[in-house]
Amino acid sequence: MSAIGLIRRIVEGCGSLDNIAAEVQSFGAKRVLMVTDKGVYSLGLTKGAEAALASAGLELCIESEVPPEPTQAQVQAIFDKAVGFNADLVLAIGGGSAMDTAKLIALMLRNDLNVQDLLDGKRPQSRKVPLIMVPTTAGTGSEATPNAIVLVPEQNLKIGIVCDLMVCDVAILDAKLTAGLPQAITANTGIDALCHLMECYVSKKHNPLSDGFCLRGISLIARSLRRAYTDGTDLAARSDMLLASCFGGIAIAGSSTVGIHALSYPLGGRYHIPHGLSNAILMPYIMEENAPYCLERYSDIAKAMGLDTAGKSAEEVAQMLVKELYELNRFLNIHCDLKAKGITLDVVDELTAAAAKVTRLLSNNPKDLSPDDMKRIYRRLIADNA
Ligand SMILES: NC(=O)c1ccc[n+]([C@@H]2O[C@H](COP(=O)([O-])OP(=O)(O)OC[C@H]3O[C@@H](n4cnc5c(N)ncnc54)[C@H](O)[C@@H]3O)[C@@H](O)[C@H]2O)c1
Ligand SMILES: [Fe+2]
Repeated sequence: MSAIGLIRRIVEGCGSLDNIAAEVQSFGAKRVLMVTDKGVYSLGLTKGAEAALASAGLELCIESEVPPEPTQAQVQAIFDKAVGFNADLVLAIGGGSAMDTAKLIALMLRNDLNVQDLLDGKRPQSRKVPLIMVPTTAGTGSEATPNAIVLVPEQNLKIGIVCDLMVCDVAILDAKLTAGLPQAITANTGIDALCHLMECYVSKKHNPLSDGFCLRGISLIARSLRRAYTDGTDLAARSDMLLASCFGGIAIAGSSTVGIHALSYPLGGRYHIPHGLSNAILMPYIMEENAPYCLERYSDIAKAMGLDTAGKSAEEVAQMLVKELYELNRFLNIHCDLKAKGITLDVVDELTAAAAKVTRLLSNNPKDLSPDDMKRIYRRLIADNA
């Protein structure tokens, strides 16, 4: 397989996973490694694909033990278990945790590399097996990003391994798979997608390609996240969310997330707050902090969200956008008892020191966030989520 930085094919539509055997066979593959997680597997979400692959006479090995937000060691253990199967295609069905694990496995297969090598910056010349990804959450957009995130407990940090070769060959966006996503996960992951889109739009790395995907994705979320949250079986809203999430991934591939994700990493790394939730609670604060540095871009976001910007100054529109984000969080019941997680004012310095290491993202934030800025933001967050 050659190097690819952008996803090549998106297959969209309710029931699109039914065609999985033909997709696999289009690569001439015969031995499929399916990577999923316990929750998704036990809900039976992989059953249709299993049956379709079996009836097409394809060999299947299922790794269903991916935990939420896996550590480096957990990804390595799943790889070590799967490597003997000698897969000629990797199929991920799950949320970001399963998809990221599948990406790393696909990159390491037949490449004589382990996860530590990848963390150390080693990269293969090519990916040797095709990769098909089927998201079951609408949030990470992992199917379209070159990133895979692992928790490194020794550093109390989640680290993004970035390699263009991890962008998948085909993403299948089948809203039927997300219809049973619980409300809280719908909310957290949906806001994760919104963060990707807004952050990539204001990032110093923004560019015409990512901009288009950002604004379209933001519109889809504005029209459908509340609906998907209120009625999970609303498949039109679920489809919008899957597409928006994928667009967020494409935007990340060309641009980058910024301050929200940077300050969020320590909350996940050390305190195990789920990725979407830690972004969601931080989102309005960082957007407020950045507002004076990207007023025009905030105006574009507000318009994409359908807010009534007529006759208002750029400052007023930015304020309106920030207010809308606080309101969206309230509607979705986004809240995290930080104290119960051990996050109090006592750990603000530690959080700030960990966030300051995420220079890959911080360096693209519209405002240069100083340690004092970050401390102030964490303090507000802790006070408001007590
Ligand atoms: N690669 C990237 O670009 C990227 C971007 C953002 C986040 N991430 C990473 O992705 C991970 C988070 O992924 P996530 O937010 O999708 O959550 P997740 O994959 O950890 O899943 C969360 C929970 O939802 C359940 N679930 C998934 N789909 C379901 C469905 N359809 N119905 C019912 N339950 C379902 C899972 O079983 C799990 O318990 C983190 O490790 C994060 O760091 C990666
Ligand atoms: Fe994210």
